[in-house]
Amino acid sequence: MSDSKVTLTDHETGKTYELPVYKATYGSPLIDITSLNKETGFFTYDPGFMSTASCRSDITYLDGAKGELMYRGYPIEQLAEKCSFMEVFYLLLNSELPNAEQLNEIEREVADHTILYESLLHLFEGFHYDAHPMAILTGVVGSLSAFYNDPLDITNPEHRLETAYRIIAKLPTIAAVTYKHSVGERFTYANSKMSYCGRFLHMMFSRSGEDYEIDPVAEKALDVLFVLHADHEQNASTSTMRLAGSSDTNPYAAIAAGIASLWGPTHGGANEAVLKMLRNIGDVKNIDKYIAKAKDKNDPFRLMGFGHRVYKNFDPRAKIIKNICYQVMEKYGNDPRMELAMKLEEIALKDEYFIKRGLYPNVDFYSGIIYSALGFPEEMFTVLFTIGRAAGWMAHWIEMISEPHKRIGRPRQYYTGLARRDVPR
Ligand code: CMC
Repeated sequence: MSDSKVTLTDHETGKTYELPVYKATYGSPLIDITSLNKETGFFTYDPGFMSTASCRSDITYLDGAKGELMYRGYPIEQLAEKCSFMEVFYLLLNSELPNAEQLNEIEREVADHTILYESLLHLFEGFHYDAHPMAILTGVVGSLSAFYNDPLDITNPEHRLETAYRIIAKLPTIAAVTYKHSVGERFTYANSKMSYCGRFLHMMFSRSGEDYEIDPVAEKALDVLFVLHADHEQNASTSTMRLAGSSDTNPYAAIAAGIASLWGPTHGGANEAVLKMLRNIGDVKNIDKYIAKAKDKNDPFRLMGFGHRVYKNFDPRAKIIKNICYQVMEKYGNDPRMELAMKLEEIALKDEYFIKRGLYPNVDFYSGIIYSALGFPEEMFTVLFTIGRAAGWMAHWIEMISEPHKRIGRPRQYYTGLARRDVPR
């Protein structure tokens, strides 16, 4: 049932068409164009999805003008302060926060699935020690589909949930093996008695024969960062995962497609790119030069960690992350890159170019400084983003697969190629 209608007029023929309009819980109303082509013969054209909702979703809402983000109706500020990543994972999947028993159960399920098949572990040996961790992650997560395919029935809700638990459980293990492979160290098996983030830190940084104590500051900072990254509605990687999954492909393969998309520097890869940029800037005295480069249309350089398709006022996640930065630095000492980043932010935010275009620091601007303080190498930053975002991907995959009228995603195109011609032979 539509809430109202809009009329489309074809001025060439004088014909008019009525299109249904839906009101969303929040945000702009939507014109339903599903039957547009059938009724009018027209397609719509919207590269980059500037005005197009690719799906209906109950999971996450964000308001770019107000700088607001909510998972299942809960504001991100409250979730970051009061809830653990496991609670948020449960919330994204089930629409409600878990009670103590439900939390206990999801934590146990995830702990039970952390282990990787030994034969999967052999796969890592095929990668060079200096391969980018996102390349390894894409390949290894895709290869999970070789281990979980035949008995997996995506029409079975229990199988779908188990897939979600497996992905969230195995990603930190895969990330830690990837890291250990890069430094030539023996992999540490997961300790199921630890928290989700404690277990991950332990797998990453403990060494056989040495004691390793989990730092609660690091454990908490990582947990909040995973909460902040957990979902962001129909961003490029989530949309990629949905499109791949819409063909009913194996979900691990669909998640690998999402990971491939997230890797790009204009998406999740920006956190790694920010630290590279700060290294290139090097000193406060060079900031003006880089600001000028970012404004120069003939220069491909952009301020990494700045700007967002939806947020045109501020990114609420960036505000929270900046505060975690201070807490982490209190424990681990000051990082000169923080001072450089803050000065860069201050100068950019006063500049007419950035003000006019609504360009503000995004989630990736300060997160790398925290990861770096916790001991993660730069190449691992986007892997950390992946672990958090996988919670949202699984909620979206389940939502999409469960949709009663689900269809394969199949965009159309605006063909501007050559007209028909014959092969000259
Ligand atoms: N530095 C300099 N200029 C910029 C920047 C930037 N970081 N971002 C956008 N602009 C300019 C752009 O040149 C354009 O100017 P004009 O109107 O004169 O042509 C205007 O702002 C609008 O940019 P756009 O590319 O049309 O905006 P978009 O919505 O397509 O792109 C974005 C959004 C995030 C890809 C882009 O802002 C960007 O490349 N930022 C740097 C990379 C980054 O930090 N990415 C992380 C995004 S947040 C986390 C995530 O989603 O993964």
